[in-house]
Amino acid sequence: MTQKSIYILAGDGLGPEVCQQVERIIDWLNVNKGTDFSYENGLIGGASYDIYGDPLTKETLDTARNADAILLGAVGGPKWDGKVERHNRPEMGLLKIRKELDLFANLRPAVTFDALLDASSLKPEVIKGLDLMIVRELTAGVYFGMPRGDDTLPDGTKRVIDTQSYTQAEIERVTNVAFDLAKKRGGLVHSVEKSNVMETGVFWRNVVTKIHEEKFSDIKLEHMYADNCSMQLVRTPKQFDVILTDNLFGDMLSDTAAMCTGSLGMLPSASLGSEIDGKRLALYEPVHGSAPDIAGQNIANPCATILSFAMMLKYSFERSDLSDLIENAIQAVLSQGIRTADIAKEGEVAVGTSNMGDAIIEALGV
Ligand code: IPM
Ligand code: MG
Repeated sequence: MTQKSIYILAGDGLGPEVCQQVERIIDWLNVNKGTDFSYENGLIGGASYDIYGDPLTKETLDTARNADAILLGAVGGPKWDGKVERHNRPEMGLLKIRKELDLFANLRPAVTFDALLDASSLKPEVIKGLDLMIVRELTAGVYFGMPRGDDTLPDGTKRVIDTQSYTQAEIERVTNVAFDLAKKRGGLVHSVEKSNVMETGVFWRNVVTKIHEEKFSDIKLEHMYADNCSMQLVRTPKQFDVILTDNLFGDMLSDTAAMCTGSLGMLPSASLGSEIDGKRLALYEPVHGSAPDIAGQNIANPCATILSFAMMLKYSFERSDLSDLIENAIQAVLSQGIRTADIAKEGEVAVGTSNMGDAIIEALGV
């Protein structure tokens, strides 16, 4: 296999300890599976701000752009909350890398592991066999729309503005990704917006409908309002295959979908750009945040980050075989009852982050 470079931006909170488990798996693959992965570490978020006064430096961005794939841990924490100028907040590092690398398609799968059925707050029969994919638009919408910020009305009243904005091209390209995925999955897309209230919602629905008619009429398309979708996700999540939605709704619905599976600690994600000259920029990160309350104690669940690396193997390196190997190893470890605190049953002894890494690596080898 040709050499592949992975840029690891572990970030803040529990980021470094969970990314470390991925480094161990990369080392294991290089020794045992003949891969040639190299990795380099960089800083993002608060960790970068503390040293450079900037949550994402130009050098980091350049290295990221040249890497074959990026693995990100998490950003943010109380250390910087309210203490750093807004434009230098750790989260801005994350939003900037998504925007600058134009990673417009955020894939967030929610898959239930049988061994974890009891970890969800939902009934086992509601979530057994759940396998859905949220495709969240990631570089437009209200996260980036202009105008934005403070404003003062002629009478002196202060107001603050965020703008929801979508161009046709921004909707089209993420829609194509969702339909392409549905083709390889269950053949069903739910397009989610608020066209009953929002102009961008009406536009979203029209653009998706047009692409569907033109290119994907063999896929089943349903339209759903975002509020209804959030309700349906906890009522009958198995009705979904691919959920296609905008940046803000995708942020919210993916947290809900995550909890259907039992723990945010299990959910990976991939953020993909367009393919240019045969190369597609891509960043992989767990859906959970930096969890400062449990960071640095070796108790965090590394599975979401390891599963994000598995997505990298599949989507960036076309090594579904290795991605399956990792997913099966995690499955096996969970079935043996080896669990971190977030997914442990009551009265069960939980293992730490590095012990979870040990167990997964051991399971890879059998
Ligand atoms: C996510 C996170 C981010 C977002 C934050 C950390 C900026 O919640 O990736 O879901 O809102 O997109
Ligand atoms: Mg979020």
